[in-house]
Amino acid sequence: MRTHNCGELNIQDVNKTITLIGWVQRSRELGGMTFIDLRDRYGITQLVFNMETSSALCQKAREIGREYIIQITGKVLERSNKNNKIPTGEIEIEVSDLQIINESITPPFTIEDESDGGDELRMKYRYLDIRRNIVKNNLINRHKLSILIRNYLNNLNFIEVETPVLIKSTPEGARDFVVPSRMNKGEFYALPQSPQQYKQLLMVAGLDRYFQIVKCFRDEDLRADRQPEFTQIDCEMSFVEQEDILNTFEGLVKHLFKEVKNIELSDFPRMTYENAMNLYGSDKPDIRFDMKFIDLTENVKGKGFKLFDESELTIAINAKGCAEYSRKQLDELTEWVKRPQIGAKGLIYAKHTKEGIKSSIDKFFNTEEISQWFQKADAHEGDLLLILSGEKEKTQKMLGELRLEMANKLNLRKQGSFQPLWVIDFPLFEWDETTNRFYAKHHPFTSPKKEHIKLLENGDLKNANANAYDLVINGVEIGGGSIRIHNKDLQKVMFKCLNFTDEEATKQFGFLMDAFSYGAPPHGGIAFGFDRLCAVMGNSDSIKDYIAFPKNNSGRDVMSESPSQIAIEQLKELGISINTK
Ligand code: AMO
Repeated sequence: MRTHNCGELNIQDVNKTITLIGWVQRSRELGGMTFIDLRDRYGITQLVFNMETSSALCQKAREIGREYIIQITGKVLERSNKNNKIPTGEIEIEVSDLQIINESITPPFTIEDESDGGDELRMKYRYLDIRRNIVKNNLINRHKLSILIRNYLNNLNFIEVETPVLIKSTPEGARDFVVPSRMNKGEFYALPQSPQQYKQLLMVAGLDRYFQIVKCFRDEDLRADRQPEFTQIDCEMSFVEQEDILNTFEGLVKHLFKEVKNIELSDFPRMTYENAMNLYGSDKPDIRFDMKFIDLTENVKGKGFKLFDESELTIAINAKGCAEYSRKQLDELTEWVKRPQIGAKGLIYAKHTKEGIKSSIDKFFNTEEISQWFQKADAHEGDLLLILSGEKEKTQKMLGELRLEMANKLNLRKQGSFQPLWVIDFPLFEWDETTNRFYAKHHPFTSPKKEHIKLLENGDLKNANANAYDLVINGVEIGGGSIRIHNKDLQKVMFKCLNFTDEEATKQFGFLMDAFSYGAPPHGGIAFGFDRLCAVMGNSDSIKDYIAFPKNNSGRDVMSESPSQIAIEQLKELGISINTK
């Protein structure tokens, strides 16, 4: 149907007779001429119709609307008015034959780089949105990444194995999406939150190195970097220690940045979870900028200021160059930290202006005392210290959020700069305040640090660390994994710590534990969020930009209108009765 696509003709093709087919991006009339921009996946080519030399054709061209599909034959001419912004900008096609292949109603938004359509509208007509360069290129880039990943891992002897989608619930911590079984009424499959258990079984099966680019499903609250169905690059290796996994996958990420962005990343720094929390208040610190926490707890205690005296931790960040913030700006920051999402009770500041040092708690601290805080923070004239005080973990998290907010305001989160790091030595357990018990922070098969096994036996769960690691880039958790427990006795200890009875453990993980009785190799792995990796590499905050048909923030596909109700007959067949009121 075509001799060329709409993105490939150039000055070398002048005088050739060619046939193109594509969508009408726009048409305009200029004197006796009609110009049409014809678009396909590969680009745009300008068509020209001349009223004087072929009036019938020109008349026909004038009746064509946006997004019609037309097929044309014509001659390639050099343009007098060149457009150096597009590859075909030096030529145009003098059309000698025009066929309307399909009509289109007027699209609900303009299909241009700068569209007039809002998010929801573009999602409803996602197939039109994908005609736009931005969205189309994102999908092409995602495809390129997936090919690079497959080739890289294939060269390292990894094999891609598909694991089931209808499975038994996995213990990853989020809620499962469930699927009722017609043949086994009253019973349900779960959609995998990850192929975690299957990849471990593949190691027991002796496959040695596995990967899969795989859909995962989690019924959790959605955010810009979370979708209910998303894709993991899921990997597992046998006969490895943590060091082997970190090196292998650091290699993969470096390779991707080199191939896709021509960026040579230096070796990734490693930071313990504890340091990440103490210095940045986050287990996924954005280290493109410094602004580390300064611990003032010892400096501020015992001066009669009740808040500081009673607090476990008092920490500050130095907002460089912000000493001239107005009262209004400081009030706004205070309101910002008091929002329920952050949850601070207030914000304390100390600033060093030309006039000297001033703080919001001058009553309790004299200039000399406050200037010591400035010294500790390596802060100088022109700087503003923002201080939070309270219970350790909460205060760290709050100041971590404020640190990011200040970095946004000060434009420190530079696009195009990439700062990966490994966060290592995660705690093995996590205390849950609502149920008053410990849960596995990663999952129950994560191995403790060798030197911390004793802590499990002594019941000191709080201080036990795991052989678990996350890859973080620019403040986004891109991947996470761990070395697994392959020893039955240690697994038993772990279940005991998690308050699992033998029966419960067998009921939930019986098949995995059975498999482990037949010679489980030492193994470990990692899974990357593929959508997040695409988004970070593409400088986007939202993974939706890299998913062909994403869900909205309420988990709905506004295009197909799912989820939707199903027929009573269907429900009956599944043995499900619901109250429709
Ligand atoms: P984890 O739960 O850390 O580990 O998930 C791995 C990575 O998947 C991405 N991710 C998501 N991306 C988009 N939307 C979501 N809702 C979502 N949830 C997670 C993140 C995350 O780092 N089985 C283990 C891995 C292992 O131990 O090998 C696992 O799934 O980028």
